[in-house]
Amino acid sequence: MNLFDVYPLNDITIVKAKGSYVWDDKGDQYLDLYGGHAVISIGHTHPHWVQRIEDQLEKIAFYSNSIKIPLQQQLSDKLGKISDKKDYQLFLCNSGAEANENALKLASFHNGRKKIVAFTKSFHGRTSLAVSATDNKNYIAPVNESDNVIFLPFNDEDALEECFKANGKKISSVIIEGIQGVGGINVADESFLKKIRSLCDEYGAVYIADSVQCGYGRTGKFFSHDFAGVNADIYTMAKGMGNGFPVAGIIIAPHIKPKHFILGTTFGGNHLACAAALAVLEIIEEEKLMGNAVMVGKYLKDQLEEIPELKNVRGRGLMIGFDVPEELKDLKKNLLWNQKIFTGEAKPNVIRLLPSLALKKRDAEDFIEALKEEIEKVMEKVQG
Ligand SMILES: Cc1ncc(COP(=O)(O)O)c(C=O)c1O
Repeated sequence: MNLFDVYPLNDITIVKAKGSYVWDDKGDQYLDLYGGHAVISIGHTHPHWVQRIEDQLEKIAFYSNSIKIPLQQQLSDKLGKISDKKDYQLFLCNSGAEANENALKLASFHNGRKKIVAFTKSFHGRTSLAVSATDNKNYIAPVNESDNVIFLPFNDEDALEECFKANGKKISSVIIEGIQGVGGINVADESFLKKIRSLCDEYGAVYIADSVQCGYGRTGKFFSHDFAGVNADIYTMAKGMGNGFPVAGIIIAPHIKPKHFILGTTFGGNHLACAAALAVLEIIEEEKLMGNAVMVGKYLKDQLEEIPELKNVRGRGLMIGFDVPEELKDLKKNLLWNQKIFTGEAKPNVIRLLPSLALKKRDAEDFIEALKEEIEKVMEKVQG
């Protein structure tokens, strides 16, 4: 049986990983500034994470949500503390799309409304509501097309205000990434997030902070939305939460009340997932990884800004993007094949850096050197 061919693949087989490095089956070492798409938060195969999962595996891996799982409460307490949202409530699931799906659904249960406000270049996942709120027609199957989603220009306060005036109490929720990831590292303005907060308050809508990619400490704050100094009603989380172990969740403000059976999952919050997620938070705290993300992120941004060919260097902490000119459109490939460095991309011609929050400054220095070398090679050819 063939694999269903939905991914354009690099011809590389990774067989081993440690920290910010991965190795292929030929023994070649790669620096990983992509983190398997922002997933590797504490570093590949961190020994504490491995140990905690192994220990848990020996005890019990899974039982359903029909019994008490104290690890869930431990995770909830730790998450409340580290995110400074102690009075929020945690619901656990398995993926980013599922987290957003649950958030949008919960908002609708909460206020009984149907309309969702989302923004241009947004990406919220592949499941039915999440994909309906995603601004990419290629991902939306006919069955997912919905009149319930209103797309507005990102960071446009006037358009948002007009939309609320026109649709007022029909709007159930507003969903926004603090920094758009797939859309190309676009940072939500603090004033825009404040405006969302105040309009949601005025009209009784739910502010959903999609923190699947930009959250979990990547920007130096636990949720990048927090730079605006206002709270969202629901934060969605996934990627960095398990450092590669599939686990996701939403945290929910206290005024949104639970009711049995409105949300549910078979696998969400299982013993093994909680052990992995707890290990991640323990390491983020112990190794002060949010501080490291700020420090190494600043170094990278400062250095990138010095390279004249790169434009519009942007992002926060270790979520960084920059535009490359047409003549450097193969830069990402060249970094991979010539320098053995994984980076991310966004169309057209944006390079995204989403490394582990434990990335060492020395590795960032190596990257900058390699990047300059690859740019020079191309520019020399272009200039003849
Ligand atoms: C901002 C954002 N939301 C949601 C998702 C969907 O997450 P998942 O692929 O785990 O369903 C992604 C994935 O890239 C994302 O970047």
